[in-house]
Amino acid sequence: MGTFTKLGLPPSPSSICTSSSNRKLLTSRIVLFLLIFIPLLLLNAVFPHSQLIDVILFQAHHRSKALFSSPDRAKPPRWLEVIYGTHLNPDKPLRVGLINFEDSGQSHLQLGGIAKSITINFEPVSPNITWKMIAPGWINEMNPNGRCPDIPMPKAGKYLGLEVVVAHLPCQNDQDQIEDNDEYNHWKQGIRDVSRLQVSLAAARVIVENHGINKDKDVYAVFITKCEPMIEIFRCEDLVWHREEYWVYNPNLERLKEMISMPVGSCALAQPYTGAATAGSRQLQSEIDQFAEDIQVSSSPRTYKPREAYVTVLHSSEYYVCGAIALAQSILKTNTTKDLVLLADQSISKHSRRGLEAAGWKVKRIERIRSPNSQVDAYNEWNYSKLRVWQLTSYDKVMFIDSDFIVLHNIDHFFEYPQLSGAPNNKWFFNSGIMILEPSECFFDHLMSKRYTLRSYNGGDQGYLNEVITWWHRLTVKLNFMKYFPKEFGNGPRVFPEDQHTIHFLGMKPWSCYRDYDCNWHRVEYHNFASDEVNAKWWQVYDEMPKMLQSYCAMTEIADTKLRELKADAQEAQLEDGHWSIELTDPRQYNLVGS
Ligand SMILES: *[C@@H]1O[C@H](CO)[C@@H](O)[C@H](O)[C@H]1NC(C)=O
Ligand SMILES: *[C@@H]1O[C@H](CO)[C@@H](O)[C@H](O)[C@H]1NC(C)=O
Ligand SMILES: *[C@@H]1O[C@H](CO)[C@@H](O)[C@H](O)[C@H]1NC(C)=O
Repeated sequence: MGTFTKLGLPPSPSSICTSSSNRKLLTSRIVLFLLIFIPLLLLNAVFPHSQLIDVILFQAHHRSKALFSSPDRAKPPRWLEVIYGTHLNPDKPLRVGLINFEDSGQSHLQLGGIAKSITINFEPVSPNITWKMIAPGWINEMNPNGRCPDIPMPKAGKYLGLEVVVAHLPCQNDQDQIEDNDEYNHWKQGIRDVSRLQVSLAAARVIVENHGINKDKDVYAVFITKCEPMIEIFRCEDLVWHREEYWVYNPNLERLKEMISMPVGSCALAQPYTGAATAGSRQLQSEIDQFAEDIQVSSSPRTYKPREAYVTVLHSSEYYVCGAIALAQSILKTNTTKDLVLLADQSISKHSRRGLEAAGWKVKRIERIRSPNSQVDAYNEWNYSKLRVWQLTSYDKVMFIDSDFIVLHNIDHFFEYPQLSGAPNNKWFFNSGIMILEPSECFFDHLMSKRYTLRSYNGGDQGYLNEVITWWHRLTVKLNFMKYFPKEFGNGPRVFPEDQHTIHFLGMKPWSCYRDYDCNWHRVEYHNFASDEVNAKWWQVYDEMPKMLQSYCAMTEIADTKLRELKADAQEAQLEDGHWSIELTDPRQYNLVGS
């Protein structure tokens, strides 16, 4: 707490005399202390990411008094003062690299003579390259030559010896994604701007490169922008100061290295940071290896032992309890070394919690979160509860899995990937049913603060997360095999493609059907989700569960009635698949439970 001493805190109580003259002194010191401390506390409440800033500014002022007071120097910008105050060698001017200031002039970059600037040059990305090319809906995962569009970067090795990289960050949205939809006019979309990505990645590369030269030196990033820096690359934890258009970061270099080792978008399969080559953009990997070699950083495996967990969320009803139990059992069968954590709101009963714990989950209680742009009582009304996963900061990394999944073999190695890695959905979206993410209280705050501004295309968490996190890392579709058979499949066999890592049960859930067949067949509008073969995979997990856990998958009286109605309707309509004619033999029909 050395910094507070400088601010003139009172001495410790043991050294305080109690004579009356000293009492006056004591009182005035306490008043002084309160005068200094209360505004600091208030500032921290208003700017939660800038806890240390005022202390830092104080130091900055203190240290650089001599330089700043020199009459021939202009007053430097405040962001530079902040960096200057934390910089260990204040006698030498800081060396500042500038990115993307050609068009904007440098008037707001008066460095006040306490810093030297050099311009970091690279070719601007071709305007032909759209966000769709950065994040295509589909890629050929088998094609090892498949790669991302070319995004020019600063020449490696050319910009060394920098302490600060300042970038002017553009923020235009791709035109082709703006929808003309009155209902949503007050909602914003996330930013999908290829130039913004290029500038962010360029800044990250130069910072990593400079850190590679001198590992003990901090290298700061400063963004000057009308929007916000890319939180996907520059984490909110690393933000040291922010006022208006100015953002100062002291980036965690290990994480930043990880980011620049990813493909430039979800246009190629992500590579694990360990550098182990898998299918996908080998060329990109070799470029990165070359880059790492050039700047003498090793792309060796991380050295800390991460705390990692599979996590799922149950909220608003007990409908998914059985699903979560089967999911845990399927994960444990793979001999995972990770924890299993389940977040449950108050709708999950004590009885269910006991079952979930017996199945392998560590259960934690949460308050659910309402989806701001969903209808009251809609199926997705409380889906933002999933955002609470980011509050699990006792873990470094989490694989979130929805409770309507089962896992088929060990997928622990996917924890190697950084936030946010996932499997594709459609357009440029990832599917939020399974995601690698890194818990962070400030990221959670960010999610909460944006939820009334950014529009979720489906009212649920998936649509929302895809606007906050527009830049993500693609994992194989095998990690999220969706039980989905579009029209082309007709009523014919819907075969399970082998070697998938998981199954994501879309549509009616297996436990809400009788096991004799997939009850998605009962409704024409659910036929896309119907497959007896895939359905049977879930029942294999069920069959291997202890009787006690199976009891959590009992059919309810209401569900039984509903199911028989659907069966009768299908019979009446004489649906061609003929599943309605199959006799029910599932013994669960004789052990119905109330509610
Ligand atoms: C971009 O488009 C222009 C014409 O519109 C074309 O001449 C150029 O080759 C394209 N560049 C790339 C990188 O595709
Ligand atoms: C898990 O471990 C058990 C006991 O060591 C072993 O019998 C089983 O084959 C393992 N399962 C997998 C999927 O590796
Ligand atoms: C929202 O949550 C419900 C219940 O957990 C789930 O059935 C539904 O698929 C979710 N929807 C979206 C859009 O995420």
